[in-house]
Amino acid sequence: MLGIDAYTSLYGIIGRPVRHSLSPAMHNAAFEHEGINAVYLAFETDSPRRAMDAVRTLNIKGLSVTVPHKETVMEFLDETDDTAKRIGAVNTIKNLEGHLKGINTDWIGALKALRAVTAIKDRLVVVLGAGGSARAVVYGLVKEGAKVHIANRTEEKARSLAEEFSCAFSGLDNVSEIEGEILINTTSVGMGPLAGICPVPASMLGKFSVVMDIVYGKGGTRLLQEARSKGCTTIPGIEMLLYQAAAQFEFWTGHTAPLDVMRQALSSPQADRKQRA
Ligand code: ATR
Repeated sequence: MLGIDAYTSLYGIIGRPVRHSLSPAMHNAAFEHEGINAVYLAFETDSPRRAMDAVRTLNIKGLSVTVPHKETVMEFLDETDDTAKRIGAVNTIKNLEGHLKGINTDWIGALKALRAVTAIKDRLVVVLGAGGSARAVVYGLVKEGAKVHIANRTEEKARSLAEEFSCAFSGLDNVSEIEGEILINTTSVGMGPLAGICPVPASMLGKFSVVMDIVYGKGGTRLLQEARSKGCTTIPGIEMLLYQAAAQFEFWTGHTAPLDVMRQALSSPQADRKQRA
């Protein structure tokens, strides 16, 4: 790390929990590589309102926002861009001389991770899940011209998200029958108490050319292990995490993110997680 002095800028992440976060490792490595006099710390807090007061008072230059504050922080900002409004969540804040601007880079992370291995336009994409993560992923896919089918345990939530973004939807009962070329898991299945579980029957995976899981963990998730054994190209959740962080770094600093340096910083031991900054 560069020498910290009276000019060092402060960046960070707010959420609860944040102690697992890989964002400090990625962003500090990027600051150092780019010769930027800044540090990035993790702040565990229950109050996005007081955190925004602190940002203004202490002139914190930028923040990542993770669960559970991505939606609730929005009302304490001066500006939220249209995309973040459409997704309904902010994961990145920039302090422009006291004017706090919120954007969302999760959808960029998902798209860039996918684009690295496949075309997206006109592809049939099955998205598992209809929660907050799914909203960002579906927004990006629809914007890119994919044909999206949302499949969720609670069919009503799939319907509501699908209506908003003009997609197809279903529950999970007949998930094997859904046609698709790309499969993306945004559910919590595969992490925490659901680690080692595959969110869909492994027998259906062979028809997909690409399978992406936004859950990440040591050795990859069961879904990705099964998909690899069926010959699918797989994208681990860590890739979405990397690309959303790169977009944050570029928004804050105007520098091109040093992707290799940031990826290297991710190779430290990881807990199993969803893509959560
Ligand atoms: P996030 O913000 O990370 O997306 P979330 O909004 O709580 O988290 O959404 C979690 C998603 O995982 C939901 O789609 C949820 O399905 P329901 O809408 O039916 O709750 C899904 N999920 C969680 N546990 C699941 C399980 N055991 N089986 C299938 N889907 C599950």
